[in-house]
Amino acid sequence: MIPEPAGASSHAWAAIAYRPGQRSRDNDRFGYPSCMGKQEARGAGSGGEARGGGGVSLREFAADVRAGLSKQGQRELPSKYFYDEVGSALFEAISVLPEYGLTRADERIVRAHADEIVSRVPSPAIVAELGSGSGRKPRWILGSLGRREPAVYYPIDISPAALARCEWELSRIPSVRIIGMLNPYLEGLKEVASRRKDGQRILVLFLGSTIGNFDRPVGEQFLGQVRSALLPGDALLLGTDLEKPIPQMLAAYDDPVGVTAAFNLNLLARINRELGGDFDLRCWRHAARWDERQRRIEMHLVSQQRQTVRIPRAGVEVSFRQDETIWTENSHKYTPDLVASMAQRAGFRCEAQWSDEEWPFAESFLIAISPDPSR
Ligand code: TRP
Repeated sequence: MIPEPAGASSHAWAAIAYRPGQRSRDNDRFGYPSCMGKQEARGAGSGGEARGGGGVSLREFAADVRAGLSKQGQRELPSKYFYDEVGSALFEAISVLPEYGLTRADERIVRAHADEIVSRVPSPAIVAELGSGSGRKPRWILGSLGRREPAVYYPIDISPAALARCEWELSRIPSVRIIGMLNPYLEGLKEVASRRKDGQRILVLFLGSTIGNFDRPVGEQFLGQVRSALLPGDALLLGTDLEKPIPQMLAAYDDPVGVTAAFNLNLLARINRELGGDFDLRCWRHAARWDERQRRIEMHLVSQQRQTVRIPRAGVEVSFRQDETIWTENSHKYTPDLVASMAQRAGFRCEAQWSDEEWPFAESFLIAISPDPSR
């Protein structure tokens, strides 16, 4: 448990009503074409054969590495491969860095408003979480729900280790049964929905601002797909990191101790370990950049010199110029209004939002409305 910093608190904004037809001022931001292939969040893929460290198929890993590094122009690597065993441990360390307030803010808000969140979902309810994380954030919601009624919690994750950890962390909450779903997010959610009993509501948790790792149009489309798996009256609790002063955002993704740099560089180390690559990690540097137009932090790996890298098991050899980068991740930042309008277009009504005073972050409570606009 992270000790609660003195004076940390979170406050509720007035419940935000559904405002039909209202478009965000920033709506033109959604108009740009979806950039390249950075469309899959963690948990998006799975395969059938040999598995690498994070539970993803080696063949798929090789194909993705080959495709991303063979791109003309900006080369890239898919961010879902960050989370092998080393990467997951490094991300845990990131989440306790003073510069990276995101995870703690998310947990503080969920904790402070757990009773209210649960009271907004009529009984009986089941809980599904997209990504199982460390299990710390759902604890407060499940504790509150378990006091109201016996309940089932379905964490959905493609990592067996993450699921096992989450089940262990949450195993002692009274009246809550945990059923781990080893699936990509949407498949898992559909499976959970198919198990619902008559009259049961589903509360979906999508925390940690993972939606920010999708391109904006893809994130909105993803919310629409979540909506399609639900029935009117079901709920989605969506965590989003908010825009804040640029130096603060940059420090969050480029900490002075170098944990974030290690996390990013581990992607190259993983390619070496699993695909036989010969990346020399001392010739690469981590960089975080704020893109003013897209309102996002971009993570890159910068080649420190002219070099050629061979990756036998992906069947590629790539030459890099000095200062050429491999683009590894985007982290979009939001305003509360943007979240509400995005949710509205995806078929949800934003019923409440809560924020944190110490680290701007928003938790939005969304209700699936009828009709489902994607049908
Ligand atoms: N989802 C996290 C975020 O966008 C992931 C993350 C944190 C990350 N730090 C990073 C990804 C550094 C790549 C590099 O905040």
